[in-house]
Amino acid sequence: MNKGKFIVFEGIDGSGKGTQINILVEEMKRQGRTVYQTAEPTNSVTGGILRDALGGFTDRNAHELSAMFLTDRIFHNSNKINGIKQFIEKGVDVVCDRYYYSSFAYQGIDADLKWVMDMNLNCKEILKPDLCIFLDIDSKSSDERISKNRLEREIYEEKSVQEKVRKRFLEVFGLLKDSENVKIVDASRSISEVSADIINIYNEFKGDF
Ligand code: TMP
Repeated sequence: MNKGKFIVFEGIDGSGKGTQINILVEEMKRQGRTVYQTAEPTNSVTGGILRDALGGFTDRNAHELSAMFLTDRIFHNSNKINGIKQFIEKGVDVVCDRYYYSSFAYQGIDADLKWVMDMNLNCKEILKPDLCIFLDIDSKSSDERISKNRLEREIYEEKSVQEKVRKRFLEVFGLLKDSENVKIVDASRSISEVSADIINIYNEFKGDF
């Protein structure tokens, strides 16, 4: 049996990932694929601790956060109930909102980037995505979208932080250009323009298997 494909969406906060993931997943199903949609942080115990820290309720440094996101990601891959690996093995495609590239971009600012990258990329319990779609918007547009959609902001949801995170994402994609399949999409346009690009990228990617 053919294995499923593993697709990851990344972007700074307010880049429209949720909307675009829903559109792509519908399109994949329309094309006859079976899809499992998921996100990080997960609903695991570690995911709860992370949400607490992201909400600013507990103070955690970037190294603690890196290690907790790593733990959550190993659980996300390997747990027996809804782990990513078992879906891929069964031929189900997995579409995930955020993955290790977020650890590189967010924690990689205050923690040692090489350490964060090494522990994620060299962990055999953590699958490498077949495709990463990065929704690229500038921090001003992201800030406007966050203001419209949120009553409270998480620790990273400040404009100056988002600017650094975006830069880090782009730097990391440069470092990984020979080993990871990353497509950068201009997400400052209308929902339909962005989704048309994403569906084209998906169809091209699908042509490879
Ligand atoms: P979201 O559910 O709105 O995408 O928020 C998740 C937050 O978690 C977002 O601010 C980015 C952050 N995050 C990290 O800092 N490192 C990670 O590895 C992941 C997966 C998420």
